[in-house]
Amino acid sequence: MKKNPARNANLKKNASQLLEKINSSIDVDSRLYSEDIEASIAHCKMLIKTKIISLKNGNKIINGLNKIQKDISKNKIKFNSKYEDIHMNIEAILYDNIGSVAGMLHTGRSRNDQVVTDFKLWIKSNSKNIENQIKKLQKALISIAKKNVLTVMPGYTHMQIAQPISLAHHCLAYVEMLGRDRQRITNCISLLNENPLGAGALAGTAFPIDRKFTTKLLGFKNPTVNSVDSVSDRDFAIEFIFTLTMIAMHLSRLAEEIILWSSQHFNFIKLPDQLSTGSSIMPQKKNPDGAEIVRSNVASLIGNLNSIMITLKGLPLAYSKDLQNDKKITFESYDDVLLSAKVMTEILNNIQINKKIMHNSIYNSYSTATDLADWLVKNLDFTFRDAYNLTGKIVNYASKKDRLLDKISIKEFQKFDKNITKEVFKVLSPLNSMKSKSSFGGTSPETVKKSIQYAIKKYL
Ligand code: ARG
Repeated sequence: MKKNPARNANLKKNASQLLEKINSSIDVDSRLYSEDIEASIAHCKMLIKTKIISLKNGNKIINGLNKIQKDISKNKIKFNSKYEDIHMNIEAILYDNIGSVAGMLHTGRSRNDQVVTDFKLWIKSNSKNIENQIKKLQKALISIAKKNVLTVMPGYTHMQIAQPISLAHHCLAYVEMLGRDRQRITNCISLLNENPLGAGALAGTAFPIDRKFTTKLLGFKNPTVNSVDSVSDRDFAIEFIFTLTMIAMHLSRLAEEIILWSSQHFNFIKLPDQLSTGSSIMPQKKNPDGAEIVRSNVASLIGNLNSIMITLKGLPLAYSKDLQNDKKITFESYDDVLLSAKVMTEILNNIQINKKIMHNSIYNSYSTATDLADWLVKNLDFTFRDAYNLTGKIVNYASKKDRLLDKISIKEFQKFDKNITKEVFKVLSPLNSMKSKSSFGGTSPETVKKSIQYAIKKYL
């Protein structure tokens, strides 16, 4: 056997330097080494079990692979781009270590089923890191929520002050989004949980392999049922990247609020110095660069999602080298999202909340106008539309006088409708407005307290 498994006898010359450069993926897929060795060991055990290779040779291979695993983790091994990818590099190292017995390992498999197997195993195990980090982020949000059930802040629509809500309620909105993201990860993993090993290059194999055995060893649910599909599709990677993109999108909204809220105009929160950056010219600056990078990271995720979809678009079955780029796109997306989620968790665990400023900002608005309309419906039998129209007139009157609703006298109110009583003032306070929204999923303290308990039970 010759040592370079990537070049066959039909190739009379070595690969040109440029071909080697464009074709080699070892710089990217060396990250799969652990999964590659795990899958190879499972494959080898199966070859022994089915008597395709002898126990003696199989054990040599398994010991050799275990040694490579140790050597790589101790940084003792230098990969070579001449061997193209992680699969061929490991085979070449195995050959160096145990000689030509190494050549038996590739019986009944191909790099095409090998790479999908490794890649699925990698996504399965690394998706847990994303999930754990999202959980930590939810924990940070819930801990802010616990302390701020009664903190009134302006709720916005169209970026205009809309209605008073509690800060806890606002934080729990993100907890829900992130909860669905975690569910998306679970869904994605349950769909990809089929073992492609044994599909061969595309047709299956004539060796009497046992795919159920490797499926069990590798922790997949079932073997894939169609060998062509097994090596052709990357829908699982697309779904994983889509899920990462959704997370990045949610993080970018959270980041944007951190940026806005820490600006002088809002001043709702203060970023600690260790999470702020300075300017090279303006000595007074404290900038939220971390959150800004998180806000922008979603852009490359969307680009990556687009890129993998387009790679697959129109690609004839079965395997083509185009598919090799899937890992670069996935690893990059994964790294960006994991780092962004870590940064956002750190920010949330360290921000100071200026409760008073949040609170005062809602008092300078007509945020309880809807409560006034609701009062007219409940107490004076208005239809909602009539109440809405009359309240509009009252707000118009108040703003012309440059006064807030609670600064309008009862006499002035009665000019709009003689039946309005002093009771109306109760609903004009933002705190009371917030307290009154006790419908399921609303912002009242009672509902929010229940939501916090629900979130703790469901997500932490
Ligand atoms: N490095 C390759 C990839 O990631 C492995 C599969 C190569 N298969 C082949 N037929 N050249 O796609």
